[in-house]
Amino acid sequence: MSLKKLATVFVSRPCPPQGLERLRRHCNVVLNDSETNLTNEAFIKAIPGVDALFIFPPAPINKETLDIIGPQLKVIGTMSVGLDHIDLAECRKRGVKVGYTPDVLTDAVAELTVALTLATARRFEEGFQAVRSGTWGTRWENALWLTGKQISGSVIGIVGLGRIGFATAKRLAAFQPARIFYTGRSPKDYAKEIGAVFLTFEELLEVSDFVIATCSINETNKGLFGAEAFKKMKTSAIFINVTRGALVDQDALYEALSTNHISAAGLDVTTPEPLPPDHKLLTLKNFVLTPHLGSATSTTREAMCELTVDNILAGLNDLPLPSPAV
Ligand code: DGY
Repeated sequence: MSLKKLATVFVSRPCPPQGLERLRRHCNVVLNDSETNLTNEAFIKAIPGVDALFIFPPAPINKETLDIIGPQLKVIGTMSVGLDHIDLAECRKRGVKVGYTPDVLTDAVAELTVALTLATARRFEEGFQAVRSGTWGTRWENALWLTGKQISGSVIGIVGLGRIGFATAKRLAAFQPARIFYTGRSPKDYAKEIGAVFLTFEELLEVSDFVIATCSINETNKGLFGAEAFKKMKTSAIFINVTRGALVDQDALYEALSTNHISAAGLDVTTPEPLPPDHKLLTLKNFVLTPHLGSATSTTREAMCELTVDNILAGLNDLPLPSPAV
């Protein structure tokens, strides 16, 4: 693919080298190669005058940052399926194309979701700590020590049976749960493949042993998991969230976990990220946290990078993006 002029692309984080090399063959790449999170200030300093952006959440794209970049901006490639950091309406208004990376990360996120569900249900965190602190040897004398919950025979509730929710449900189906329920905006035909049945959000909360949030975040579902939702769940329920931290009211989650209103929670996403190490949730035994690892396999990150490069090169060449969000 050859460009009329050498366009400048700002890449906001280090990413897989092959994709980056391909971008370099066609564009002037300005890379923020610092491993630490790019501050808002540094981001704003780096973006004026660029023709394209290669970004990751939560780099904010809104009226203010679009004004700072300038009218020459043609395309934004976000290396994510989540689009909550981008004001898509504003991009559309200004004719800025936006590409994202769904599908290529579905398997990796589904695998992480299953892993987190098992780790939370089988109390891995407490187990690891017992191993390291030397309390393992004595506690096994009690046959109920670190007993958890199993998926076989349980009721699974998936909140959002989209790509990631369905891929997760398919994998969990292999563990032979008693039922799989799901909720969302509307019933899905493909749910029949795994015998999953549609319920309202409230119904799903009431009957599920595992409540697993895989829906994308939007203005209407921020704080969906608040005090009311946790009250509706079984006291034995396990809550998993792999989407965005904003879906959860973390004070309400702390309250629900510390008063045993629900049994345990496993999160891959929080507000903020990183969660401060002295955050009260991290004092709880029945809380498991992974640091937003959903798509973090090398195969998936490479595929995400390649697709982001494809989106950017297409946008710069006035071609349709292979994976457009706008
Ligand atoms: C995504 O792709 O949106 C992941 O959550 C990474 O942010």
